[in-house]
Amino acid sequence: MNETIKTILTRRSTRSYKEDQLPDSDLELLINAAIHAPTGGNSQSWKFTVVQSKEKLWELNRLVRESFANLIVDENTYRSKRTGKIAAQQEAYNFYYHAPTLIIVSNDRAYSNAMADCSVAMENILLAATSLGLASCWINQLTWFCDDVNMRKALTDCGIPENYIVCGAVALGYSASNNDSLVPRKKPDVNIIR
Ligand SMILES: Cc1cc2nc3c(=O)[nH]c(=O)nc-3n(C[C@H](O)[C@H](O)[C@H](O)COP(=O)(O)O)c2cc1C
Repeated sequence: MNETIKTILTRRSTRSYKEDQLPDSDLELLINAAIHAPTGGNSQSWKFTVVQSKEKLWELNRLVRESFANLIVDENTYRSKRTGKIAAQQEAYNFYYHAPTLIIVSNDRAYSNAMADCSVAMENILLAATSLGLASCWINQLTWFCDDVNMRKALTDCGIPENYIVCGAVALGYSASNNDSLVPRKKPDVNIIR
């Protein structure tokens, strides 16, 4: 099996991180991998905001907890939002799992391929991270809450333009767990027409 396929098949989400920061040279490679993803019409309108400041990460965590507290849910609400709302009531809740780096990926809200472009960039980050021996996890809370008033102020402070939505974020660092298991895949629904 070639190295690229091996990397794809061994990537997994990590939800427990060591404090150690990743080297700047790795960060540079991750961003370079991200921007080599395809974009609709070669738009490249994405923005990558790398947050490594503990204070800023804590502030975002506080605001995520605030947003969850204000979120009204019912039985039709997306399950992760319902479970997140309960989890966020705990003082120990941390939406980025204490990872030392969080890359927030945002794009122009008026651009119809905003989410698609950012998603392919994020997958490149996840795969590049795996190939470098780094742990990672896709993080969605800032996507849900980026337009909440206080969260938006914090994002503006981070340099994210008002007309940009958060399409996703990636937690990055070194795994603090030795049992990040591979999640089994369901049998895919594939229909080959020959
Ligand atoms: C759009 C999207 C949103 C996700 N949001 C979160 C999240 O907020 N927190 C989290 O821990 N994992 C999140 N994940 C990771 C999934 O839970 C994970 O990919 C899935 O359980 C399969 O596990 P694996 O990544 O280890 O293969 C997200 C993944 C995607 C693609």
